[in-house]
Amino acid sequence: MSTLIKNGRIITAEQDYLADVFIENGKVKTIGLNLDVKADTILDAKGKYVIPGGVDVHTHLDMPFGGTTSCDNFETGTIAAAFGGTTSIIDFATQARGTKMRDALDIWHKKAEGKAAIDYGFHMIVTDLPDAHIEDMSEMVREGVSSFKMFMAYPNALMSDDATIYKAMKHTAKTGALLCMHAENGGVIDVIVQKALAEGKTAPIYHALTRPATAEAEAVNRTIALAQMSGAPVYIVHLSCNDALEKVAEARDKGLPVYAETCPQYLFMSLDDMGKPGFEDAKLVFSPPLREKWNQEKLWIGLKKNTLQVVSTDHCPFCMKEQKELGIGNFTKIPNGGPGIEHRLQLLYQGGVNEKRISLNRWVELCSTTPAKMFGLYPRKGTIAPGSDADIVIWDPEKEYTISVKNHHMAVDYSMYEGRKVKGNADTVLSRGEIIISGNKFIGKPGRGNYVKRDTYAGVWG
Ligand code: URP
Ligand code: ZN
Ligand code: ZN
Repeated sequence: MSTLIKNGRIITAEQDYLADVFIENGKVKTIGLNLDVKADTILDAKGKYVIPGGVDVHTHLDMPFGGTTSCDNFETGTIAAAFGGTTSIIDFATQARGTKMRDALDIWHKKAEGKAAIDYGFHMIVTDLPDAHIEDMSEMVREGVSSFKMFMAYPNALMSDDATIYKAMKHTAKTGALLCMHAENGGVIDVIVQKALAEGKTAPIYHALTRPATAEAEAVNRTIALAQMSGAPVYIVHLSCNDALEKVAEARDKGLPVYAETCPQYLFMSLDDMGKPGFEDAKLVFSPPLREKWNQEKLWIGLKKNTLQVVSTDHCPFCMKEQKELGIGNFTKIPNGGPGIEHRLQLLYQGGVNEKRISLNRWVELCSTTPAKMFGLYPRKGTIAPGSDADIVIWDPEKEYTISVKNHHMAVDYSMYEGRKVKGNADTVLSRGEIIISGNKFIGKPGRGNYVKRDTYAGVWG
């Protein structure tokens, strides 16, 4: 099977040039001007960008959480991702307390097999780490699960204490794996939450109002200190506010291997989007919560200056009906999470490139190249180069689109960005050389996605 993409403008993290791309057996074979080759399929990309497929390193598909299960499974979630130009995801397998990480990994493999439409890897959420089981982490690394997530939030559920986090970091420092942290001070938040409930403050907005930015900044600071003491690099997930960003900037100024991602919800929404009547705000209940609006521009500057290196989605969708509704009358019972896997590239393109906050190269770097590098997928994913997987998006910069529950492909009954207009969208999407999205249609097959064993984090760069 061979494909020739002709006349496109190739955009990678470093380059921007006109060329044809010849693909054979799922890999990029040759790149050059006016390639004189025979191909089974020819795609004309004139006037369009040819970019590496998006890499979303933070998704929760088919995940039991908050008394229910996230409503996109590996089929619906990966198809929705593909529509938006994402061709690889790294999803979170969750170790149930009292079980081995291997058990969780087996469960997540079963969830994905036969369903995933694009390639996928796993991180492991560590909830239980007795000394006798620390080598479970090495086993995970050998299985290609080269990153772990731990929580400083959600007491009595997912939260780990500092000693356990430190032990895990000592391990990642040794093996080259990457520790990812959900940084919010769960203990303090819990006290604030109980006080709010006792005062009858039960509406969804109190989820946001009981999780102060300082609780995130404190936890980021503690994470950095633990990482420094253990000699490990660390990656802060879903960073939401300037207070936390400043802690990351300070650490990076000292030359520490501290990295962080943010997500579109923190760049495009704020507390101003909450305060709607009734139970509507439940659509925007996730953690960390939305912040005051002024934080948004600070995060954009963080992306521009490389204080933040990655944009992921933290896609963790729950329908309003029967799922978010579990929290009517008590915001603590609203399952935490929001949908976003389909719209990361479009939103970043609109708010970043169209609105002149970041360059085209930086857009590719944030959505594809750096996530692939950070999590051991590069150069197989995250670039367009001879030998790399032909995970390629033909991007139409002129295509206008209104984000809505009416036209999205996620299995969730609302959109966080309902009615938002964007210009620029995926036109044709190839995964390992196979066209899976063409002209607004999914033409791939569920189950065609492969598990990708990831290498370890590549060391300190950037
Ligand atoms: O509210 C969120 N973010 N839900 C997903 C789980 C997590 O903490 O990433
Ligand atoms: Zn988290
Ligand atoms: Zn998450």
